[in-house]
Amino acid sequence: MLNVSDNKNNNQYIKLEDYKPFDYEIPNIFLDFIIEDKRVIVKTELEFIKKNININSLILDGIDIFVEKIYLDESLLEENNYSIQKNRLLIKPILKETFTLKIVGTIKPKENFSLLGMYESNGIITTQCEAEGFRRISYHSDRPDILSKYKVRIEANKEDFPVLLSNGNLVKANDLKHRRHEVIWEDPYPKPSYLFALVAGKLNCIKDNFNTKSNKKVEINIYVEKGDEKYVKHSINSLKKSMKWDEEKYNLEYDLSLFNIVAIRHFNMGAMENKSLNIFNSKLILANKETTTDEELERIEGVIAHEYFHNWTGNRITCRDWFQLSLKEGLTVFRDQEFTSDLHNRSIKRLEDAKFLRKAQFREDSGPTSHPVRPEKYLEIDNFYTTTIYEKGAEIIRMLKTLVKEENFNNGFSNFISTYDGKAATIDQFVNKILENNKEINNEKFKTWYKQNGTPLVKFKRKWDKEKQILKIQVSQINSNKKNLYNDLPLIIPINIAIFLNSYEKIKKTLILKEKEEEFTLENINSKFDSPIISYFRNFSAPIKWETDTTFAEKLLILEFETDYFTIYDTIKGIYKKIICKRIYEEPDINIENKLITTLRSIIRNNKSINLSLLSEILSIPTFSEIESEIKKVDPLKVYKTIDDLNYLFGTKLKVELLNKLKEIDKNITKLWPEGKDERKLIETIWRLLLHSKYEGIKNKVISYIDSNSMTLSKAALNVFTRINCPERELISNIFFNKWKHNPVVLDNWFFFKASIEINNNQKNIEALFKNEYFDVKSPNTLKSILNAYVTRNSLFHSRDGSGYKYVADKILEYDKSNPIVISRFLKIFSTFRQYENPYKRNIIKVLDYIKKNKLSPNTREIIDAILN
Ligand code: ARG
Ligand code: ZN
Repeated sequence: MLNVSDNKNNNQYIKLEDYKPFDYEIPNIFLDFIIEDKRVIVKTELEFIKKNININSLILDGIDIFVEKIYLDESLLEENNYSIQKNRLLIKPILKETFTLKIVGTIKPKENFSLLGMYESNGIITTQCEAEGFRRISYHSDRPDILSKYKVRIEANKEDFPVLLSNGNLVKANDLKHRRHEVIWEDPYPKPSYLFALVAGKLNCIKDNFNTKSNKKVEINIYVEKGDEKYVKHSINSLKKSMKWDEEKYNLEYDLSLFNIVAIRHFNMGAMENKSLNIFNSKLILANKETTTDEELERIEGVIAHEYFHNWTGNRITCRDWFQLSLKEGLTVFRDQEFTSDLHNRSIKRLEDAKFLRKAQFREDSGPTSHPVRPEKYLEIDNFYTTTIYEKGAEIIRMLKTLVKEENFNNGFSNFISTYDGKAATIDQFVNKILENNKEINNEKFKTWYKQNGTPLVKFKRKWDKEKQILKIQVSQINSNKKNLYNDLPLIIPINIAIFLNSYEKIKKTLILKEKEEEFTLENINSKFDSPIISYFRNFSAPIKWETDTTFAEKLLILEFETDYFTIYDTIKGIYKKIICKRIYEEPDINIENKLITTLRSIIRNNKSINLSLLSEILSIPTFSEIESEIKKVDPLKVYKTIDDLNYLFGTKLKVELLNKLKEIDKNITKLWPEGKDERKLIETIWRLLLHSKYEGIKNKVISYIDSNSMTLSKAALNVFTRINCPERELISNIFFNKWKHNPVVLDNWFFFKASIEINNNQKNIEALFKNEYFDVKSPNTLKSILNAYVTRNSLFHSRDGSGYKYVADKILEYDKSNPIVISRFLKIFSTFRQYENPYKRNIIKVLDYIKKNKLSPNTREIIDAILN
């Protein structure tokens, strides 16, 4: 056998600068799957065309495939012509310019617990190939820039596997001897291997259809496990809305006459956009108002749209290499955000997206795993499915749209689609298309957004000449992360501002900051105030942080005059943050607290037309995870206590207004989603405040909703009791558990609740959840519910003796063996320890060292090294 060096798992970085096109094209692939009891035989036929005539060998990727035979153009290859190393197959010499390679191998889905490649979930055989899972099914040069047409034959026992699915069109279905059957699927569109999918098993199908704008009928099939049929209506509607929206907004039509969705319980991510065969985590398909909250209904609608939108941004136009991941993910997130904005409330959606970005992406970007939206190197690509690639990527695209204006953006987008259809593209190519006819924005300079990491800080200072009515705004930008050379370069930043002249008049403008320091001069500013009041980054026009010279009194005026939801929300949150910090590090600032309470009281009383979701945001004291990354020296127990105290204070002081509001909205809370959702959101916030204020009159009212037929309200009832230590808490927990124990998707809410509540003998309480008879070891959802609740909601995780950290470290080690993708992501909760005070900091370092000394998956190894570096 020949020798071949294996450069993966050797702790060697894959680098963007090393990108080279593949030496061959593979226009056609034929895959033949024979599903047996304990194994699947996979016969692969790859058609090669040599592109680089100087090459006479071939290297393919493959993991855990047992190879039986290899043929080169029908002739069996002798063993000295190839060698198989851990993750590679090398064949040589290959002198022909076109040839077919046929590989016969076997794989064992039943023994695969990684949820990558081909595996079993509740008796159903399924696949996950993105990013590098195809190589666990078949030998292939498993990279996204090789586009091939796939033909797939699947053969299996008919009783256990009545449904056999793959991508494209079903071209043949046949019964065979011995109660077996076969099907053949053909996908006419060339695609990269990561979009391949196969599903086999006992599934029930719910059918519907959609007529495209050119009047083609698309058959829609949703496949679920038996008993789940009644939960798919919402998903089907969401899919049809998505199809229609993409036609209307971007003129993009679905390109096949069949669209399949499969719901799988054991799925690591949300969902996967495999061509015409989307595979979803069941929790993102199964829904109705009795089992699903308003928030989840909107998220399901959004994820279905996201995967559907990938058909164009991702599938028809794919990524040249994995460094370009944000080309499809950032763009598709941007598209699903726009979809939700158009269907629901654009201002609220913007506020929610900004809130999420700050909580999750800013946190990531300020810690050790911070990376650019287009990274330059990686060890494990699975570690890069991050909120930076997805959500910050979407923000960059949103800025492009702000800079070139909507119409030009849409033209550039369409141009990109038609130019790169059927190809693998890069982020550079996308940006060039959007900026093609633009003279004002320099392409290369704008692209710095993709190369920098960390969150830039913009500072504003006003200079006001009242006599001449000239306002100067001095602006500077800085990125304090010094590890990346690009971080020193100035970014192009769109800044939406409003200048308030008096209580009813404002000037709106978009400043475009291009240099490190700039001064903007505005003339004829006829302001009645001592100095014009300005709100910056309205509608969150850039994913950055900022500092201003706005005084507290001016902020209160902004709250009175602003109409931009994001700015109102942001101004209030800034005040809460100040109040929390004062209480933690100094004394409570009674003056500011009282002024905020007075303002809130007047908003609740007088502003009858305010959007109730916005009101709910305004009245919500920040949570631990919202505030954690905003403060410098974290004493977690103090933070939890301060938040509890403020809930008590605000609940007590605003009691009369809150009770009145409750009465006012009561009649609307039973309306069907999307109606009534703002009311239901507000009700949870009001319940929380009143319950924390120890107002006994609210308890029974809340409890009465625990078995309500609205999941939004019953989950709200659970949520608000999380930090209220009283006998009723156990009562509602039992009611919820008994009602839902047979519905695993809903029961995860109960696991989350139980892991959040603080009772003595804490770890015993958590451990009991892992031992619960309804805990499914193979379900990443339940595992994530328990772990996330414990570390983000339960202050006992931060016990001063470090026992909570140690407990979680042991769980990390235990589950890293079976599910490294989930665990390596989860490990990042320890990444903010540098901001922590002792003994917390010391204790976290101790457990990180302990984790590091154990045998870890490559995914988790990469993260722990980054955290400790
Ligand atoms: N492309 C999928 C989506 O965003 C996510 C797949 C994640 N896969 C992974 N191995 N991390 O819709
Ligand atoms: Zn995606």
